Amino acid sequence: MKNMTRREALGTVAMGLLLQDGLASAATRHEKIIVSGASGQLGGLAVKALLARGIPARNLILVSRTPDDLADYARLGAATRAGDYTKPETLPAAYAGGTRMLLISMGFGSMPRPQAHGNAMQAAKAARVKQIAYTSWIGITKGDKAGLAVDHLATEDLLRRSGVAWTFLRNSLYMETQLAPAAKMLATGKAVIPSPEYPAGYVSRENCAEAAAPVLAPGHDDKSYDITGPALLGVREIADAASKATGRPINVVPTPAGAPPARGFTSPAVEVVSTAVADLTGHAPTTIEEFFAAHKAQLLKQG
Ligand SMILES: NC(=O)c1ccc[n+]([C@@H]2O[C@H](COP(=O)([O-])OP(=O)(O)OC[C@H]3O[C@@H](n4cnc5c(N)ncnc54)[C@H](OP(=O)(O)O)[C@@H]3O)[C@@H](O)[C@H]2O)c1
Repeated sequence: MKNMTRREALGTVAMGLLLQDGLASAATRHEKIIVSGASGQLGGLAVKALLARGIPARNLILVSRTPDDLADYARLGAATRAGDYTKPETLPAAYAGGTRMLLISMGFGSMPRPQAHGNAMQAAKAARVKQIAYTSWIGITKGDKAGLAVDHLATEDLLRRSGVAWTFLRNSLYMETQLAPAAKMLATGKAVIPSPEYPAGYVSRENCAEAAAPVLAPGHDDKSYDITGPALLGVREIADAASKATGRPINVVPTPAGAPPARGFTSPAVEVVSTAVADLTGHAPTTIEEFFAAHKAQLLKQG
């Protein structure tokens, strides 16, 4: 570009981007992307993220236990179908014609989760789905085998052995889980640092969805991604961010000597931060300061 005018250079860059976009859409034109669990919070955001990436609604197959909730997307041209992991008879019709699938993990329910997720995998395989991206758990990356990791490990193992290409989206704890504790800190003006403390790479649910959308495409077979926020956050960082967003003080104190050890979901396995969100989406993940600023009203309402 050395001898080009600025206008010519910009034209060349624009042409390159158009070509890239053209290639990307050519590669996905014949794809039918299933979002299984499309009316959940993460599922709904994933549908929005796919549309925002330019995937036409007609290329989406949105599966839910409550497909009527997806009427807006049906009007846009998406297929909306009923499907329940615990009712395997519902799944062949739900997944028919799909080429790639986002399998959203379910919560604890009437059937062991790996068994229910396995039903979805088998039906997807029978429907000739060629890739399944599964929303897994960050703890697995550091070798956690207990607690939240148990069902996700079993599901990952099933998917690896399914014969379908897999992609694991190992989501960290959602930032949303910190709204209620932060609201309580603001209401009481006090926060206690647990002992032991395991800072986590909290990530917004929206970032998890935005990172899921681009992996439903060629190039992500048999890969796993650690989907985290930009920093490890403990109680002090969370309290500081809540104070900054609201202007209210929080006195952060250590656990008193002799107090029993803190109990909770977290473990050293949550102490993971990666660049995957930025790598997959092209933008930096949301910081806790940005997240709390956007949820200020909720922070002040709860507690
Ligand atoms: N990383 C974290 O901090 C964190 C926190 C909480 C949960 N999670 C996990 O992440 C998943 C998604 O989170 P979320 O916030 O979107 O949860 P959510 O709003 O409660 O949604 C639950 C999801 O599970 C699906 N589902 C539940 N039972 C199902 C069944 N029998 N058959 C098919 N689909 C079923 C729902 O699909 P439909 O409603 O459309 O049928 C929906 O997509 C959760 O289910 C859980 O496994 C992660």
